[in-house]
Amino acid sequence: SERSYIMIKPDGVQRNLVGEIISRFERKGFKLVGLKMVTVDKGLAERHYADLSSKPFYGSLVEYICSGPVVAMVWEGKGVIATGRKMIGATNPANSEPGTIRGDFAIEVGRNIIHGSDSPESATKEISLWFPDGVNEWMPAARPWIYE
Ligand code: GTP
Ligand code: MG
Repeated sequence: SERSYIMIKPDGVQRNLVGEIISRFERKGFKLVGLKMVTVDKGLAERHYADLSSKPFYGSLVEYICSGPVVAMVWEGKGVIATGRKMIGATNPANSEPGTIRGDFAIEVGRNIIHGSDSPESATKEISLWFPDGVNEWMPAARPWIYE
């Protein structure tokens, strides 16, 4: 089944949104297979956002991600990459629909609370970057009540 790397950014942690965000993914029916709190060093933040290294906001983005602990997660389920992005909402919270995480809890693009992988390729890269020792296999008892 598909997996996505989902990360609650330092502002999400500071604003006590960890439970709220985990709850949304759990209630949707996705399966949590990796979870840890990480105080991110500059090198890891730079590697995670390497594709954006030429952007003018890259320096402040790296600083933001290193400004406090993040909650690094891997969620699994059918369509979790695209659906996770929908649940998160548009990059700029000014354009995020109400009902999405950014739409409900954020105002500015530089403080948008959460990250989600944008493609299967990024998900694979990000999961091996943040969880080099792998994730956890388990069989949820509710599975037949979530999938036909
Ligand atoms: P992530 O899930 O964090 O990867 O966000 P995204 O995929 O919705 O957007 P993108 O990968 O293009 O940008 C990564 C992150 O950089 C965003 O989530 C923002 O935190 C930040 N960012 C993107 N664009 C801007 C910008 O114009 N200004 C600032 N300050 N930050 C930006
Ligand atoms: Mg992105």
